[in-house]
Amino acid sequence: MVDISIINYDEINLTDSLLVVGLYEDSDDLDYLNKIRSIDLQEKISKLITATNKNTKKFGKSLLFLVKDDKNEYLKILSVGLGKYGELNPNKIRQIGGIISLKAKELSAQNIIISNFYKNTIDNVESIIEGLSLSLYEFNKYKSNTGDKPNYYDICNINIISEDLHTELEQIVKKTLIITQSVFYARDLANSPPNYLNPAQMATSAISLEDSNKVKVKVLDKYQMENLGLNGIISVGKGSESPPKLIILEYNQGISGEKPILLVGKAVTFDTGGISIKPSDKMDEMKFDKSGGCTVLGIIKALSMLHFPINVVGIVPSVENMPSSSSYRPGDIIKMHNGKTVEVLNTDAEGRLILADALSYGVEHYSPKCIIDFATLTGACIIALGSNVAGIVGNDDELIQKVVHSSMESGEKIWQLPLFEEYLELIKSNIADIKNIGGRTGGAITAAAFLSHFVNEVPWAHIDIAGTAWTQDGTIEKSYNPKGATGFGIRTTVKMLEQNLL
Ligand code: BES
Ligand code: MG
Ligand code: ZN
Repeated sequence: MVDISIINYDEINLTDSLLVVGLYEDSDDLDYLNKIRSIDLQEKISKLITATNKNTKKFGKSLLFLVKDDKNEYLKILSVGLGKYGELNPNKIRQIGGIISLKAKELSAQNIIISNFYKNTIDNVESIIEGLSLSLYEFNKYKSNTGDKPNYYDICNINIISEDLHTELEQIVKKTLIITQSVFYARDLANSPPNYLNPAQMATSAISLEDSNKVKVKVLDKYQMENLGLNGIISVGKGSESPPKLIILEYNQGISGEKPILLVGKAVTFDTGGISIKPSDKMDEMKFDKSGGCTVLGIIKALSMLHFPINVVGIVPSVENMPSSSSYRPGDIIKMHNGKTVEVLNTDAEGRLILADALSYGVEHYSPKCIIDFATLTGACIIALGSNVAGIVGNDDELIQKVVHSSMESGEKIWQLPLFEEYLELIKSNIADIKNIGGRTGGAITAAAFLSHFVNEVPWAHIDIAGTAWTQDGTIEKSYNPKGATGFGIRTTVKMLEQNLL
């Protein structure tokens, strides 16, 4: 794991290091470098910088300078453009952190020193650490020729200069690295290919999070689910040789007896569409249809290391949606766990069926105080909001607004779609209580309208991460989200849990 320390100017050792300086478009103030007393760096750097193009100061630009020190040795200085002074905020600083790491990696710099070109507030330092760390994620497990070369992430040392708040910032380093490790865990799971990660293997990974004191994990198999009437999950799983699993994780560090927060995540380890089969173009990406479940497991992993005094239950229904002679069909009617009947009109609208059972099971067994679910639920959500913003729909505006607000701080943008009565009309069935599709329009909302039948009156928010769970067409490149699974939702939710906002 990357080693990050908070240091003072007098602890700097510039030899064999990469010193990072930040440049504002509207200020040439490099006063902070004055504190490096060993050499007349400031003057030398100022000269170089005045000689370079204005472009160098544009947000996100970077440039490597070589400066001779008093022993006539070259020092490596990396400048990063910060844009306008007044416009720098934690979201931009996270992006800058990622740019710094990626450049340092390209230069194989093992020691990085980050000067304090930004205000060293808790929020800003947290963001820079997130960016520095999250950008270095690599998924190499299935490459055979990586040799013994260590991963850059495991060998680099980052020193962040701050003149005060050392104890607080050291705590922030610790906490942030726990969260980014949990994001890496979720990315690894979500990136895993479908022939290596089926529902049983998803459950095995969840069991690895078990910790007798803090996290209890239960896995219900097909037969137990049949006995409990979890027929939504059973039906979707019928076409696959890999049987479905219902994964339940209990994190109990809050007041005993206090109602838990329920987190539910869709984990379709591969979504072919089933009998209503999908076109083959990009079907490989449907290995990411387990991302919602991976997010929930990532959150529980973070909690087990952060010890927040709260009660949280995670429920992850996991299935593979395959076409075969044993598959469920369009036309089937399913009696769900809560007794409602569903007419199946498209077997590709499978996520809502497994989530519905998981939600009603969670409501019945845990009486949660609120519910958040994460799911790569609809292509329609990508059409509505694009691939940089997730959708949120639910029955409680206050809960939704809290999530939206936190998402703006984490940079995992989430935006509300409405759940008016009209949408509920669209999923009424002629021959059952409801049907599993609502027609061509408003698909992200009719999917949520379907789920609303399974949460009773519990405050609930559904987050559709179809566009944001992995990098795809239209994804605006973020330095800290490398290609593939993003782990979307973990940082926002852990923050909310930390601040007791749920
Ligand atoms: N997993 C898909 C949704 C999806 C599609 C996520 C593309 C990310 C990228 C989901 O199970 C699905 O197939 N939904 C259908 C619903 C439709 C049949 C009502 C869809 O969006 O097309
Ligand atoms: Mg589908
Ligand atoms: Zn799906």
